[in-house]
Amino acid sequence: MAKPVYKNLFKPLKLNGLRLKNRITMAPLYLGYAASGGKISPLLLHYYKEMARSGAALIVVENASITPGGSGSSRTIRCDHNRYLNGLEKLARSIKEEKSLAALQINHAGRFAHVPDPVAPSAVPAFDRTPRALTKREITTIQKQYAKAALRVKKAGFDLVELHGGTGYLLSQFVSPRTNKRSDAYGGSIENRINFSLEVLKRVKDAVGNFPVGYRFLADEWLPDGIRVKESLVLAKGLAENGVTYISAMGGTYESFFLPEIIKKVKRPGYMVSLAAAVKKMVKVPVITAGRISTPAKAESILKENKADLIGLARMLWVDPEWPKKARKGEDRSILKCSPKCDACMQLVMQGKPAFCPKWDKEKRAIYRGLFK
Ligand SMILES: Cc1cc2nc3c(=O)[nH]c(=O)nc-3n(C[C@H](O)[C@H](O)[C@H](O)COP(=O)(O)O)c2cc1C
Ligand code: SF4
Repeated sequence: MAKPVYKNLFKPLKLNGLRLKNRITMAPLYLGYAASGGKISPLLLHYYKEMARSGAALIVVENASITPGGSGSSRTIRCDHNRYLNGLEKLARSIKEEKSLAALQINHAGRFAHVPDPVAPSAVPAFDRTPRALTKREITTIQKQYAKAALRVKKAGFDLVELHGGTGYLLSQFVSPRTNKRSDAYGGSIENRINFSLEVLKRVKDAVGNFPVGYRFLADEWLPDGIRVKESLVLAKGLAENGVTYISAMGGTYESFFLPEIIKKVKRPGYMVSLAAAVKKMVKVPVITAGRISTPAKAESILKENKADLIGLARMLWVDPEWPKKARKGEDRSILKCSPKCDACMQLVMQGKPAFCPKWDKEKRAIYRGLFK
């Protein structure tokens, strides 16, 4: 095979006993493709097969719920019972057959859960609903559910598990001074607010043993009273010291994504790179950055400037699964780009509908639509 045009992007990386064949990873992208009830569907298998065939080294599958009460939607993958193992095994196998590593992200949506009685660290309203504050006992139960779900991910044959500490879901709700008003050992100072995440990591590691555990990390909520980088770095340090395999940095939550200044910010290429760079200065574990990294040249410069160790592509890979192959040949211009003016996939999934990209040709859209049940 000819030498890749972008040397840093195609340099392998050792990760906790695993070998990533290049620096391209798929960042988790929920598109409403699971069967209603959260089972693995033919469309989901088709989607991830295509992502794995792209040549990305690691595919991080979208968030899967650790308990029904923490599920983001009726089409969120479920990982809270052994009855889901069979489907999860199929998914892991199908990705690995294409020579990509497979990870599954596990989550509790907390105050954003799509359930009648959401729970959270404190009773802070989220849009038009107010969650119930968790008791100490319930906190322990949820931590155990993370551990059980992580063990299921291992049993299903995935190579890694990722804890979803981003997007303003439960793990980050504990870290945020906005959503955590507790006065016990889980609230107050930043040292207390990171306890929940560190305890979850510990329980997960105890359950899975020598199995890699990544962390999707909310570096900044992009809200004046939310988590800011200075505080979140305390958690980054704690995670690294407690054996996390990588940190995948991101910014924003459902409460900031739609603010006018954030809508403007997220149109820029590499809009979350500065967050990853700040984390990278603080920790020795590999750091992933995502966020409109639409060209291989941009990805290469991020790696060259040592702002991150791995590139995360979510919509960028979904729009054009040939991204990695075109990158290898330096064919940046032929990559099909996600339009900064479009927000269709996010809008559709928020309305509870499956997302199909308007950039695809008719035939591809028909295949995806045809598989949706
Ligand atoms: C429709 C949609 C669904 C997403 N689902 C997830 C998810 O399940 N877990 C997660 O950590 N991030 C999720 N993200 C965030 C992406 O992983 C990524 O950080 C973001 O889209 C920026 O990368 P991109 O510009 O390559 O898409 C989602 C983003 C979008 C637009
Ligand atoms: S072009 Fe629109 S629908 Fe397609 S990935 Fe980008 S934002 Fe999503």
